[in-house]
Amino acid sequence: MTKILVIGSGGREHALVWKLNQSDYTIFCAPGNGGISDLAQCVPIKADDLSGLLAFTKQEKINLTIVGPEIPLSAGIVDLFQENNLKIFGPNKKAAQLESSKHFAKNFCRKYGLPTPDFESFTDSARAKSYIETKKFPIVIKASGLAAGKGVIIAENKKQALMTIERIIEKKEFGKAGETIVIEDFITGQEVSMLAFCDGNTIIPMIPARDHKTLLDGNKGPNTGGMGSYAPIPEFKEKWITRLQAELFDPMIKALKKEDIEYKGIIYAGLIVADNNFYILEFNCRWGDPEAEVLLPLLKTDLISLCYDTIDGKLKQVEWKDEYALTVIAASGGYPDKYETGKLITGDLAGTDDTMIFHCGTKKEHNQYFTAGGRVLAVTGIGKTLSQAREKSYNALKNINFAQMYYRTDIGK
Ligand code: GLY
Repeated sequence: MTKILVIGSGGREHALVWKLNQSDYTIFCAPGNGGISDLAQCVPIKADDLSGLLAFTKQEKINLTIVGPEIPLSAGIVDLFQENNLKIFGPNKKAAQLESSKHFAKNFCRKYGLPTPDFESFTDSARAKSYIETKKFPIVIKASGLAAGKGVIIAENKKQALMTIERIIEKKEFGKAGETIVIEDFITGQEVSMLAFCDGNTIIPMIPARDHKTLLDGNKGPNTGGMGSYAPIPEFKEKWITRLQAELFDPMIKALKKEDIEYKGIIYAGLIVADNNFYILEFNCRWGDPEAEVLLPLLKTDLISLCYDTIDGKLKQVEWKDEYALTVIAASGGYPDKYETGKLITGDLAGTDDTMIFHCGTKKEHNQYFTAGGRVLAVTGIGKTLSQAREKSYNALKNINFAQMYYRTDIGK
């Protein structure tokens, strides 16, 4: 039987395992979580332990490895597995720079005329501060490296901007990830997560999804890894996807080739749409989280065939169900700052045909689930309309509880 290894431990990886589990495969997940352990054999190897993952894959004779998070991709797990003649889904280290260096990604956009807000990069705090003098507010300040979704700060005024530059460059709040910062013009508009499969030659866009990055209702509060998501976006119709294919994805594949980058895997463009224009805010080199928790339940095409077709350069088409999905994240009180773990999760965690309870940060002990992370569960509802999907998700949430559970009440509103 085909053996598959999924790397990662969040809601995205639970959704990947859930989708794979619809076919007859032996599934392993490293390291996995409480919910994943019900569907796959979890192995205690961390996602950044590349040599441990390689040894396990060889020992178990895994047929295909699917990488969930960005850290192993940016560390070069795909290059390592390819050198060992192992099949692995995801972009190589050079391609993953589109996510691991915002400085690289923004310069890539500038060089190839892909629309992105105006920006400059800095390693020197005095030069960054003097650039601020010439700018309007709010302004966006980003740590260039990987910062678990927390490295993007919107400074409302000059004082905040100067403090942010100090925090990142001088006080090194994000460590190495903040050695370079990108200062970007702020653009108001509708955020769209546009993911696509890319086999090196062909890019096929998925249906558009929307993430809700801030902690509080009304898109207020600090940025998080994502507090909820839905897809498709009703106002973002087919003609937008056709336009993005022509104005974003097709030029992008040409640009990647010119840079001698072979990109195979998922490309995720974080866009802002304003005044009938789109701007690229960032690229990610993997499924979004929580976008995966709405996209994977709507994906009609077999996931494994898509993975093999992507790796083998044979992508043809991707089919979607004609439905909506909406997910709400149940988080630990205090997230994204300090929070407690180890709280017993009670209630109905079984899910139904149109409600999925994906585990993001849980562990299972003596047949009970406990919180083990900031984002704990992603509760997804599926419906013929967005409001039906929303109702299903929120109704399911009412039957789940853990101490200090927090969720936004306005996802998809
Ligand atoms: N949803 C944001 C991310 O996956 O980075």
